[in-house]
Amino acid sequence: MQSIGTKWNTQLYQDKHSFVYDYGEDLIKLLEAKPDDRILDLGCGSGQLTFKISELAKEVIGLDQSPEMISEARNKFSHIDFQVGDATNFTFYKKFDCIFSNAALHWVKNYKGAIKCMYENLKPNGKVVLEFGGKGNVQTIVGQLRNSLAKRGYTTQSKLEIWYFPSIGEYSTELENHGFRVLLAQHFDRLTELADEKSGIKDWISMFAESFFHGVSVEDKEEIKAEVQESVKDKCLINGKWFADYKRIRIVAVKEGENV
Ligand code: BEZ
Repeated sequence: MQSIGTKWNTQLYQDKHSFVYDYGEDLIKLLEAKPDDRILDLGCGSGQLTFKISELAKEVIGLDQSPEMISEARNKFSHIDFQVGDATNFTFYKKFDCIFSNAALHWVKNYKGAIKCMYENLKPNGKVVLEFGGKGNVQTIVGQLRNSLAKRGYTTQSKLEIWYFPSIGEYSTELENHGFRVLLAQHFDRLTELADEKSGIKDWISMFAESFFHGVSVEDKEEIKAEVQESVKDKCLINGKWFADYKRIRIVAVKEGENV
């Protein structure tokens, strides 16, 4: 589920960022999917986890805002229903037993809209199982990126806010305000190994943070990526391997409230 105006590089994602869905396999266990369940994978990306869920439940639909990702998912898993759609504005004629979302909701700045939409598309007692970037996520890498941009006079770019990284207090409260009962809320560090030993941080920026470079010259862009990688060595280079300083928020909540 990518921010508006940004295009996914599906090849770079597949080649070097498969950890996004590798970690998600663990989250699937929290679904406790039953054979008759109808499940929505919200922000399904290229569909790897949607496929895993399809082996556990009767019906699965994958929804993602990126046409490139949905096209990739359809090519790989042609038997699954994948649709392009917006996490803050979707309606299915039949409601879901569960809504699952891995590493996607931090792209959705209209988080209230997404929570409302999830609530409306769930059956009574239906549940959400969600994991995404929590408060302080990638602050080492992105903090340095902001510094490097600002230092060269790219003030607007240095202040860009493209993600939503809440604390569990904020997010749980918002879920409760919308009629959910929160069963599980965790906020934890997950240092995440990046694939390339030479250009791990530079690749991460190219994959996920290109929006910061609108209006930045090609030379500056390459210099900034290299500078960020060099500056975060202390925290992000461990035994010759690059790591991103991820912090995850993990939530399980059920639909309650007057509408149930
Ligand atoms: C994340 O999975 O935490 C993440 C991925 C890309 C950009 C920002 C955060």
